[in-house]
Amino acid sequence: MLFLLACALSAVNFVAAVEDTRFEVTGGNRIAGDGRIVGGSPASDGQWPWQVAIYTSLSQENYTFTCGGSLISKNYVLSAAHCFNRPNITGILLRIGVHGLTNPSSNTVERYTNSYRIHEDYNASTYKTDVSLIYFNDIVTYNSYIQPISLPAATVTVSGGESCVISGFGETNGTGQSIAQLRYANVDIIDTTTCNNWYSADNITVTNDQICAGFEAGGIDTCQGDSGGPLACRVSNSSDSPYVIQGITSFGVGCALARRPGVYTSIQSYVDWIVQHTISETGERIPLISDPGNGAMYHGLAVYSWLWLLGLHRCVQLIVE
Ligand code: ARG
Repeated sequence: MLFLLACALSAVNFVAAVEDTRFEVTGGNRIAGDGRIVGGSPASDGQWPWQVAIYTSLSQENYTFTCGGSLISKNYVLSAAHCFNRPNITGILLRIGVHGLTNPSSNTVERYTNSYRIHEDYNASTYKTDVSLIYFNDIVTYNSYIQPISLPAATVTVSGGESCVISGFGETNGTGQSIAQLRYANVDIIDTTTCNNWYSADNITVTNDQICAGFEAGGIDTCQGDSGGPLACRVSNSSDSPYVIQGITSFGVGCALARRPGVYTSIQSYVDWIVQHTISETGERIPLISDPGNGAMYHGLAVYSWLWLLGLHRCVQLIVE
């Protein structure tokens, strides 16, 4: 009996140890504090610790601010394909743990790379499959200002009305000027049928691989310069719930106009692609959340319980022997 207890305990310990190392970070957690965005508020430093500012260079020397991105692991940033859809990009500069565009704080780390991947199905005229990955070699260390955001599994459904967060360094008022400080705003997910009704006047069709978010009346939206950045939603309703990335800022007609919400690439349609092109290149796993609707059911937990059963099975075997 005692043996059985010890055995079960060690199995649990074994599993816990495995979970600690392989699923070290579940992602989407903010540690410090509680875009160019129209109708938003300034973010505090560390409020959206997965936000990345992406600069590109066409000349090796001059890097200009290009897009937003989201940190999804210690060496991968998720962004939009259209950010890189230009010939002659000679280099990419990533600012991670970023709060201000012009004068990076001591919490900001920089990574230079030229390793990026545009989804092979990206269509530059329709903006379909607007997703890209940027890889950098020198991994970052997570801290209060630098955290990855989790990806949702393909089975999760995003329902209309759910409130999510957009963030970025993009335009705030249609002046064409990028802002200095990160901004954010809450937006509602708008169901695809409604979104298509509104956008039909512009001959735009939104597919199930895209998510519309904003408000019927407009007023709050992403705008030029926010592209590539996250549409992040809480895993559950509780105020300490982690965030999961549901969308990538892609396009809109104007910014913050009535019945012209922002259109985001739906991450769920591309989770397999993202996982396939990240896990293979490094040992690190991308944090994955399988159900933002019903509380945190982490991908890691499935393996966790599987290993637990394995441990228990081994114990039973030992007892039988
Ligand atoms: N395509 C824009 C960019 O490159 C993002 C536009 C988002 N527009 C909108 N109305 N939500 O930054």
